[in-house]
Amino acid sequence: MRELIADLRAVVGPARVLAEPDVVAGYATDWTRRYSGVAACVVTPGSTAEVADVIRACAAHGAPVVPQGGNTGLVGGSVPPAGSPRWRSAAAGPAGPAADRPAPVILSTRRLTGLDPVDVRSAQVTVGAGVTIARLRAHAAAAGLCYGVDLVSRDSATVGGTIATNAGGIRTIRYGPTRAQVAGVTAVLADGSVVGDMSGLTAGAAGYDLAQLLTGSEGTLAVVTAARLRLRPAEAASAVLLAGVPGIDAAADLLARLTAAGPGVLAGEYVDAGGMDLVCRAAGLAPPPGHGSPGYLLAELAAGRGDPDDFLRRLADVTLPDETSVAQDGRGMAALWAYRERLTEAIATIGIPHKIDVAVPAGELAAFRAELDGVVREAAGASGSAAGAGPRTGSGTGHDGEPLVLVFGHIGVGNLHVNVVGPDPADTSVDAAVARLAAAHGGSVAAEHGVGRAKTGWLGWTRTAAEIAAMRAIKAALDPAGLLNPGVLLSPAGCPPPPGLAQSALPPTR
Ligand code: FAD
Ligand code: MLT
Ligand code: ZN
Repeated sequence: MRELIADLRAVVGPARVLAEPDVVAGYATDWTRRYSGVAACVVTPGSTAEVADVIRACAAHGAPVVPQGGNTGLVGGSVPPAGSPRWRSAAAGPAGPAADRPAPVILSTRRLTGLDPVDVRSAQVTVGAGVTIARLRAHAAAAGLCYGVDLVSRDSATVGGTIATNAGGIRTIRYGPTRAQVAGVTAVLADGSVVGDMSGLTAGAAGYDLAQLLTGSEGTLAVVTAARLRLRPAEAASAVLLAGVPGIDAAADLLARLTAAGPGVLAGEYVDAGGMDLVCRAAGLAPPPGHGSPGYLLAELAAGRGDPDDFLRRLADVTLPDETSVAQDGRGMAALWAYRERLTEAIATIGIPHKIDVAVPAGELAAFRAELDGVVREAAGASGSAAGAGPRTGSGTGHDGEPLVLVFGHIGVGNLHVNVVGPDPADTSVDAAVARLAAAHGGSVAAEHGVGRAKTGWLGWTRTAAEIAAMRAIKAALDPAGLLNPGVLLSPAGCPPPPGLAQSALPPTR
């Protein structure tokens, strides 16, 4: 380990290799505090060339590399695994020899903060992987354009991290996920070679699209060091409305009616009653009109380019629930957004949540929600996590052992965040059961947060065996020694998946 650190210091300079245990521990624990691991050190290269040198040095010592951006990921992919497992290389396969390796090196992209001027002609910009989404959005806005991905973690989440997870967020309904914004990347492969096409050409048929392959690869195939990103025309919001609704299906219906009425929905978010109670309490917000409703729809509507009053005429055609708040000024809109934006931090105040990010087809939302509490109850009871107690979907702290179930998310794209507080954070039974329920309804076990370390064992509920075999083949070809983020996205060959429910206890997938 000492030699590894010395070699890394020779590459990037002594100040850029952090080996103080307290400092390293801060990087080795994730945002939720649920995932924490052991790392040899943290290294902060300042250029693509330095990233390549760091990767070569790690490869020479057989040290795994964990790429890290803002460390806001929610599935354990940005931190090393707990303990020091014996690793098998991807090329060796499940039967190959396992080997002890040095603890992983965390490669932080925080110094890759280059930001080129916006290319207004192509509506594109070239940025370093460590640039935060907030900074990128402000940069685009200053040029009269908009970066189409936005998320509550915007002040810390980076371009590289959002590409690696194919992040979604509150604008996916309008502009698509990160994948739709990526025109090119520069990246360093496991052998230290640099690949990428930053020309930004939309017309291109010369072989595999590596930028798209790396989008959503969660640091397992390469370290992204820079990106060429598409920008959109800036669209002002004309109004935000917050409506109390009878449930998740009613929220989806109302959003569909608003979408049909135009001039355009910029965001469509759902919060259930339990989440609304909690955010009001934890963030000190006044209960909104319609308080006591089973759920809430928050929608942001575009101003459009025509007559501003046209928006109001169109809205009049949509029957809104009686107690709907509508804000048209900046302050009022921000006040309504606070009920949604402060929810994640509110949940973190009551415990370490099980955060289960799933996608469910629009037509299945109501059925999924109707079955959810029973599934959580059964899983928590069977694992002993909640001593057979029924789940609470309303208020409460979750500290008394009863699971507290909170559902919110980007309902316009069928992306729900199921948060369960109460069961032991180390017990994954509830997580597995909820993911399985989503798959049983034709959904996905991972919608926007990625697979990380949390969901590797459940990938087969969403992807076919042939698809997973193809993914393993790509991984083995690009990273035969299994250097980059081993154990993330694909369970390491030969290692058992994380514990979940027995197959027989789970609803069948479709
Ligand atoms: P990290 O957490 O550092 O890393 C995430 C993954 O990407 C890891 O696997 C890591 O190894 C890999 N990685 C990071 N940088 C690179 C790189 N340069 N090259 C290769 N691999 C890399 N997510 C959403 O999708 N939508 C949301 O609305 C959303 N809201 C959030 C709100 C809050 C309050 C929080 C805490 C999180 C939220 N997230 C959301 C999750 C998180 O912000 C995203 O997953 C984000 O994409 C992570 O970016 P990051 O820079 O923090 O990456
Ligand atoms: C969100 O939409 O707010 C995020 O994905 C964070 C979360 O799931 O808590
Ligand atoms: Zn989200």
